[in-house]
Amino acid sequence: MRNIIKDIYRLKKQKNAVILVHNYQPEDIHKIADYAGDSLGLSVKASTTKAEVIIFCGVDFMAETAKILSPDKKVILPESGATCPMAEMITAAQLKALKEKHPGIPVVTYVNSTAEVKAESDICCTSSNAVKVVKSLEAPKVIFTPDRNLADYVQKQTGIEIIKWNGFCPTHERIKKDTVMAIKEKYPSAIFMAHPECRPEVVKLADYAVSTGGMFGVVSKSKHKTFIVGTEIGMLYPLSREFPGKEFISADSRAVCKNMKKNTLKKVLSSLKSLEPAIEIESRVAKRARRALQRMVEVS
Ligand code: 13P
Ligand code: SF4
Repeated sequence: MRNIIKDIYRLKKQKNAVILVHNYQPEDIHKIADYAGDSLGLSVKASTTKAEVIIFCGVDFMAETAKILSPDKKVILPESGATCPMAEMITAAQLKALKEKHPGIPVVTYVNSTAEVKAESDICCTSSNAVKVVKSLEAPKVIFTPDRNLADYVQKQTGIEIIKWNGFCPTHERIKKDTVMAIKEKYPSAIFMAHPECRPEVVKLADYAVSTGGMFGVVSKSKHKTFIVGTEIGMLYPLSREFPGKEFISADSRAVCKNMKKNTLKKVLSSLKSLEPAIEIESRVAKRARRALQRMVEVS
C-alpha cells in the first residue's frame, strides 16, 4: 500500500492533479485526499482549484458537478460504475412533464441528479444549503426533485409548499425508526444527528438534521461525548479521525452505499496514469446545468 500511495503522490504532482474525496469514501482514499468534504464543499473546491486535473473520489453526479463547474479541467471518476441510484430516479423528460403540469413554479434540484435534469432546473441545492436555496426564491410554491425526504425536511423548515418528486436514497431509507429508538435507549445522553435524506420519522427523532459536512460543525460545538450518526456508515471514519476523544455510533449499520466504496487506491493510481475514465458532458446541457449550479453557489 505504501508504494501505491507514493506513486499516487508522484503522479499527482507530475499531472498537476488534485484529489477530492467525499466523506463516505473508504479510509484508504481519505488518506490521499487533498480535500475531503460534503457535496457543497467539494463543488466549491472543484470550481476554485488551480489544478488541471481533478480526481474525484465519490459518485458520478459529484464528478459531473465538478466538470460542469470547471469545464476546462479534466475530471476523472476512478470507477465509472460508482453511480447514485437516487440520481437515476428522475429523467429530464419526466421533469419537463412536471413543469408543464405546474407552469411558472420554480424548480429546485438536489445535486444528486443527472446533468440533464440539472439543465431543466432553475437552481440546484445540496443537503447543506437546501433550506437557504428554497427561501432565496421567495416563491409561495416550489418543485423539488428528486429526493422526497429532503423536500419534506425543507417544507417543514420553511413552511413553503413543495411539489415533491418521489425519489429517495436507498441507503438512507435503510435507517429505521425502531433501530434508532433502540440505540437512543442504549445511549440516552448521546446526540443524534440525521442526514435529511433519512425518512421523515427518523429525521423527527434527530437533535440535528445536517449534511455530512454539517456533522463536523455539530460535534465541534458540542460538549457531549457520544454521537449517534444517522447517515452512511463511512461517515464514522472521518468523524473519529477529526475528533479522537469522542464516540461515534452508527444509527443503523445497514446504511452502506456500495457505490461509494467502489473507488480504490489501485483505481486512483491507474486513473492518474491514463487520465481515464474522464467525465464528458454535452456542451449545451452543461451550459444550462452550470447556470443552475452557479446560482446555488452564489446563494450559499
Ligand atoms: P452530503 O452533501 O451531505 O455529503 O450528502 C451527499 C450524499 O450523497 C448523501 O447521501
Ligand atoms: Fe446516492 Fe444515497 Fe449513495 Fe448518497 S448514499 S451517493 S444519495 S445512494
